[in-house]
Amino acid sequence: MAEIFAGLATSHVPAIGAAIDLGKTQEPYWKPVFQGYEFSKRWIAEHTPDVIILVYNDHASAFSLELIPTFALGCAEEFALADEGWGPRPVPVVRGHAELAAHIAQSVILDEFDLTIANKMDVDHGLTVPLSLMFGQPDAWPCRVIPLAVNVVQYPPPTGNRCFNLGHAIRKAVESFDQDLRVMVWGTGGMSHQLQGPRAGLINKVFDTNFLDKIGPDPQSLARIPHLEYLRESGSEGIEMVMWLIMRGALNPKVREIYRFYHVPASNTAVGHIILEN
Ligand SMILES: [Fe+2]
Repeated sequence: MAEIFAGLATSHVPAIGAAIDLGKTQEPYWKPVFQGYEFSKRWIAEHTPDVIILVYNDHASAFSLELIPTFALGCAEEFALADEGWGPRPVPVVRGHAELAAHIAQSVILDEFDLTIANKMDVDHGLTVPLSLMFGQPDAWPCRVIPLAVNVVQYPPPTGNRCFNLGHAIRKAVESFDQDLRVMVWGTGGMSHQLQGPRAGLINKVFDTNFLDKIGPDPQSLARIPHLEYLRESGSEGIEMVMWLIMRGALNPKVREIYRFYHVPASNTAVGHIILEN
C-alpha cells in the first residue's frame, strides 16, 4: 500500500530559482538562504520519496484570470515548464504519477472535495523552486510529482480549515492506493510577504514564528486563522500559507519536527521551511 511518511513546507520565492539558474547561490546575499537548505538536501537524499504531492499556487502561468480553479490536481504523465516571461526555467521536465493522481481524484471527489482535474498544466516557479531547493540541479528529478495547484491569487482563496481537511482526504486516498509507494506531501508558499501597495515589503517574524511553532503540534489553531488575519498580519501574499495546512492535514495527528529554517529577507519575503515526519 502507498504511505505518506513525511511532509515538508517551504517558500517558493521566484528569485531563489533565478539565483540557482544564474549561478548566484554563493553570493553574499544568497549564501545564507541556500545554507539553510543544506541539511534538507542531505535528509532528502536519504529519504527520497517515490512520489511527491506538491501543493503550490499557479501565478497566472497555467491559468489566466479567465479561469481560476480553487484546487486543480495534475493528473497528466508529464508537466511542461511554464514560461513566466524569461523563458522556461532550465530545469528537468516534471514527471507525474497519472495512476495515483487519478486515484486521488476519485477518492477525494467522492469524499466531497470537488477538485478540478488538470490533464494538461504547465508548472511555474511555485512548483519548481521547491524542487530546486531540495534536489539541486539534477539531469532529471529523482521522483514523480503530482502537482496540486491552489488558488491563493484571487479572492476568495479557500480557508485554512478547508485546506487542512483536504489534507485528511488526500491521506485517506493515498493510503487506499494499491501500490507500495513512499509518498511525501509538500506545502509551499509564504511566509509573511506583501508585494504591492504602501505596505510592500511587510515581514512579520512573530506571526511566522508562531506558525512554524504550531504547524507540527497544533495545526487546528492555525486552521482557524481567517483571511483577514492573514492579510493584516502576514501581508497580502501571506495567504499562501494555507497551502501548508494541506500538507499538515495529510500527516498523522502526531508528527516529529526534523528541521526548520527561517530567514529574512529574500527578495522582500520571509523564507520559511520545515520538515515533519510521521
Ligand atoms: Fe507564490
